[in-house]
Amino acid sequence: MLSLKLVDNNITSDEIKLLAKWRKKVQPLWEETFEVTYEGTKKWIAGIIANPKKMLFFVVKDGKLIGHVGYDEIRDDYCYIGNVIRGEGKSDGSMTYAVKLLINMATKFNVKNIFLSALSSNEKAIKFYEDIGFKVFIYDIKNLIMKYENNTLV
Ligand SMILES: CC(C)(COP(=O)(O)OP(=O)(O)OC[C@H]1O[C@@H](n2cnc3c(N)ncnc32)[C@H](O)[C@@H]1OP(=O)(O)O)[C@@H](O)C(=O)NCCC(=O)NCCS
Repeated sequence: MLSLKLVDNNITSDEIKLLAKWRKKVQPLWEETFEVTYEGTKKWIAGIIANPKKMLFFVVKDGKLIGHVGYDEIRDDYCYIGNVIRGEGKSDGSMTYAVKLLINMATKFNVKNIFLSALSSNEKAIKFYEDIGFKVFIYDIKNLIMKYENNTLV
């Protein structure tokens, strides 16, 4: 069974450590060079919780936290999906389902357009999003913006 758990002020120190571990893992792919620390991760999460335009969710599979997904920006008529990381386990469709849940939730809030941004070099992520129904909307050599153009919801 798969569900999303909102990251809020009840986040535990073990959960913050998990987020830090997962972020460290994706840093080379995301071309990030800053040092991931417990305190830095805690601050990042506090910023998300305090910002009404952002949301982060743990992806919970059979009671275990396996990754996270979120909204980078929520506006009246559009949103950006972001912070999508599989932290644990192997590709099995869970992350696809988690992003579809986000899309489904956004459309319930009357969001008309759903975007995300990715590094142009992140081919695996681009294919992952294309399989869900995102299409490249704006492209440059370094970054691209994808837009959801499929009505196949969960
Ligand atoms: C992008 C990312 C989240 C994708 O995670 P994932 O584990 O591959 O995603 P899923 O669990 O949905 O698995 C999808 C795969 O399972 C397969 N699959 C099996 N059962 C499936 C099902 N029921 N539904 C959908 N896909 C299924 C798919 O065909 C797909 O296989 P493929 O990789 O050969 O194309 C992961 O690679 C990641 O964390 N990358 C690093 C962080 C990152 O770059 N994030 C995006 C930033 S823009």
